Amino acid sequence: MPSAFDRGGECETLKVTLTDAASGLEAELLYGVFAGQDVITRAARLINRGTDTLELKKAASMCLDLPSGNWDMIHFHGRHVMERQLERAHLITGVQSVLSRRGSSSHQQNPFVILCESNATEDFGGCYGMMLAYSGSHRTDVEVDQQGSVRAVMGMNDDLFSWKLEPGESFDTPEVLLTFTDNGLTHLSQTYHRFLRGNMIRSKFGTVRRPILINNWEATYFRFNTEKILSIARQARELGVEMLVLDDGWFGKRNDDNAGLGDWYVNESKLPGGLAPLIGAINEMGMKFGIWVEPEMVNEDSDLYRSHPDWVLTVPGRKPAVSRNQLVLDLSRKDVVDWLYETLAGLLRSYHIEYIKWDMNRNLADVYSRLLPSDRQGEVLHRYVLGLYDLLERLTSEFPDVLIEGCSGGGGRFDAAMLAYCPQIWCSDDSDAIERLTIQYGTSFGYPVSAVGAHVSAVPNHQTGRSTPLGVRGVVAMAGTFGYELDPGKLSEEEKEQIRVQITRFDEYYDLIQNGDYYRLGHWQDNGYYTAWQMVSSDQDEVLVSVVTVRPRPNLGPLCLKLKGLESDGIYETVRTEVFGSPVLRGISGNTEKRRFTGAALMYGGFVLPFLFCDYVGVQICLRRTERSVPV
Ligand code: DGJ
Repeated sequence: MPSAFDRGGECETLKVTLTDAASGLEAELLYGVFAGQDVITRAARLINRGTDTLELKKAASMCLDLPSGNWDMIHFHGRHVMERQLERAHLITGVQSVLSRRGSSSHQQNPFVILCESNATEDFGGCYGMMLAYSGSHRTDVEVDQQGSVRAVMGMNDDLFSWKLEPGESFDTPEVLLTFTDNGLTHLSQTYHRFLRGNMIRSKFGTVRRPILINNWEATYFRFNTEKILSIARQARELGVEMLVLDDGWFGKRNDDNAGLGDWYVNESKLPGGLAPLIGAINEMGMKFGIWVEPEMVNEDSDLYRSHPDWVLTVPGRKPAVSRNQLVLDLSRKDVVDWLYETLAGLLRSYHIEYIKWDMNRNLADVYSRLLPSDRQGEVLHRYVLGLYDLLERLTSEFPDVLIEGCSGGGGRFDAAMLAYCPQIWCSDDSDAIERLTIQYGTSFGYPVSAVGAHVSAVPNHQTGRSTPLGVRGVVAMAGTFGYELDPGKLSEEEKEQIRVQITRFDEYYDLIQNGDYYRLGHWQDNGYYTAWQMVSSDQDEVLVSVVTVRPRPNLGPLCLKLKGLESDGIYETVRTEVFGSPVLRGISGNTEKRRFTGAALMYGGFVLPFLFCDYVGVQICLRRTERSVPV
């Protein structure tokens, strides 16, 4: 099971053993204390020490009791193209639940819950965070009892779950990452960001710089050939892009989403000669090559399904529910996982592939495995997730140099356990910059910017029809892994030049963006005007402030953006101020006029922004500390 790791003597584990003499069940309650990180991990191991078979009906990971108080619950719900929308509500008497029974952590309710004092803000107040490191069905019940006491129970969803435990066998629950702060939500988020980056993401790409990529999906969908892909790559390379990612449609008879999933060999009618010459040509341009796969799925119209119809989750005698015309492979079976491993490892051994986009485009239904007896069908959902982790574990061990980006119809499986294998996850299929403000805002409460897959795409946007300035799209995608998903052949010379500058900026800000401390400075759904965020390097020397407005507010007083996390007596100088999308403010763009402030002036007085004329305006302000109060 993916779980937090110790980088060397930073964690102590407390094990509390409980025994039920009547049944012979022993429960080891595990408390991993990362004192320096302000994180306690919780999990349980259930062992059958008796002589009879036991049946687990529920196996939660943790139970947290809070005294009576005035508590709010924050959680992150959504749907496809609208993930992780923040919802905050006062706890009411009785049980309130956050859950998925879809076999994955889901677009609908993320396995991450915050209980905070009702007056808690970004900067103040008690907040408890609970994040489940699990990618399957989950459940959190928060109950307020007759005395106002609060009990939170988090773990795998017990719906459709049962597990036979034979004498001597044990069962491990997934891990919960817990934290507490009395300094508000920003501090809670920063704790999770640091912990996930440092103690959860196992890939070397947790720290090694990742390439700026271009993905062909929104540029071509299924309609491409070698020539088209090479032309996208060539033009992107000229702009400074470092990797071409070939998305869905390169394999089997995959010309639309009706066929081909499962047939992981090249579609020669689109890519004559196969992958080798294509990758060779891309590498010769000085670019890396990455590829899309959706290993967990199969179309009925595929060679794989025709030869192994028994490999899918279906209930015998019943017509299975298809979704996006596909069925789910039964990853609870070792033979299926072994086949997938050999197939994917074969691809990675044969070709110079440096990145994989691992997609998963439907939820699990017809949850029945042909290899398990009827009284063990309650194990299928969890065994599926274990099969997935086994597959990812084997692949990442053999190919540690391959970067894997997780994806599930966008951000439908965005959880701490997937991050153990995939240091970045495509945050949403909604690439519209304004929609992304809300999706990325919600995501930021638990997950670091370095995990957020974000691209600049074409306008009008394919999901919303909205047109936003290229500069604004760049500002938003820079609150993530940054890349492009458009046809560079359709860009004007002016846009190309803008992209060259964007890439230079992202390069310059890379470390600050990926590893800096993240502050939310406001969201348009609260203030009706703008979303702003800020990154500060851990030594407080470098600062990047980003603002995007969603509408103009004529005759409004100046917007004073109060910055955070600076040294009060330090002197900060603007390196540059750039405004995008507002023709009347164009003169300010790239403004390198040095302005000097104390940290206190920026934090308590604020950085005064000009009137941001026009519908969607983006601002990036880069500051550097030039003097410390105490020289080092
Ligand atoms: C869903 C993903 O989120 C998209 O980015 C794209 O890869 C499609 N699947 C391809 O089918």
